[in-house]
Amino acid sequence: MPPSRTFDAIILGGGAAGLMCAAVVGQRGRRVLVIDHAGEVGKKILISGGGRCNFTNRDTAPDRYLSANPHFAKSALSRYTAQDFLAMVERHGIAWHEKTLGQLFCDGSARQIVAMLLDECAAGEVTVETGRTIGEVAHADGRFRIGGDEAPALVIATGGPSIPKMGATGIAYDLARRFGLKVVEPRPALVPLTLGGDEALFRELSGVASDVVAGAGKARFREAALFTHKGLSGPAILQVSSYWRAREPVAIDFVPDVRPGWLLDAKRLRPRALPAAVLAEQLPARLADRLAERLALAGPLNGCSDKALAEAERRLSDWRFHPNGTEGFAKAEVTAGGISTAELSSQTMGAKRVPGLYAIGEAVDVTGWLGGYNFQWAWASGWAAAQAL
Ligand code: FDA
Repeated sequence: MPPSRTFDAIILGGGAAGLMCAAVVGQRGRRVLVIDHAGEVGKKILISGGGRCNFTNRDTAPDRYLSANPHFAKSALSRYTAQDFLAMVERHGIAWHEKTLGQLFCDGSARQIVAMLLDECAAGEVTVETGRTIGEVAHADGRFRIGGDEAPALVIATGGPSIPKMGATGIAYDLARRFGLKVVEPRPALVPLTLGGDEALFRELSGVASDVVAGAGKARFREAALFTHKGLSGPAILQVSSYWRAREPVAIDFVPDVRPGWLLDAKRLRPRALPAAVLAEQLPARLADRLAERLALAGPLNGCSDKALAEAERRLSDWRFHPNGTEGFAKAEVTAGGISTAELSSQTMGAKRVPGLYAIGEAVDVTGWLGGYNFQWAWASGWAAAQAL
């Protein structure tokens, strides 16, 4: 059966990366088809940043991304920058603000970002088909065929499997394997961690947040940590979760602003103060009570030995939690791992061994920090592929 429609490129997935790529390719005069199984495009954009979309980060740099090849993202990130995306946002008259740590958000709604991308697609006369399942992908004579449509180029932009209830799937990996491309084991990232055993007692602190330095492996992040009814969350924990590996500890500095010797000084200056009250000057009261109890600091400070206080100081600045897992893909903001960067050109995102096949966005083994970095990768990788299509 002859194909009913021919395109220059078919893009699978109308999320952040797919829409950016489609718009740029379309505006280069190519005929582009975007296929998405969801009822509307850009659903993760719509829920991102609490509905305001943290669309990029001013401090974008390759060392803020995890990948088996830390150099892979450099080319795309340097050719399409946070400033480039911001220029598009401003061209569309979307008001924005910087919240903290270089994170840029819409003043209004994330819907403005989706509308902007769809306007850009319309300017490139892109055909966008939602509610369509991908089905069989045939490949012969340098052409890719899906249903009645065919093109010499196919772009995998179907993201990762985080938040399946929003329609996220692992189809990118199935497609990659079907074409013989390696996949780095996908795992949940930017995800809350769970505590069990003896540490489950901390779950009683559910709702308590504190400014900490959290660490896993060599990574360190100073932001808020939040106790939950399952374990630990909050930005500091989400950040370290991407670096955390099963059975490794997560180190928390609960008192990042104190000077060494602060508890011993307190004992000298206020011998009758209760340890929990002194801790509460640095920490939320409920957390201070629980930590003092764990450190067995009872009675006034002058009843605690200097050795016990020195040990308490040490533990408070390097508290070791031993998470028994994560809350999984159901709660992960992104997926780490994915289509191996060894299979792709860092210039074009094209598969080295399959001419015409491309992979962009979260489907690829490049995962950003929390704070707009993942969207910037989606824009930059989509833009890079678009230059080659
Ligand atoms: P994306 O997931 O956006 O798009 C994939 C598309 O493929 C979807 O439209 C999907 O419907 C479609 N698809 C999937 N499987 C398919 C199939 N089998 N058949 C057909 N279509 C299929 N990042 C950031 O930088 N700032 C932020 O504020 C946030 N906030 C945030 C909040 C929440 C709750 C989540 C879950 C994630 C974020 N992120 C984020 C991460 C960000 O959303 C994510 O990294 C990008 O959307 C990835 O863009 P992609 O285009 O690669 O995938």
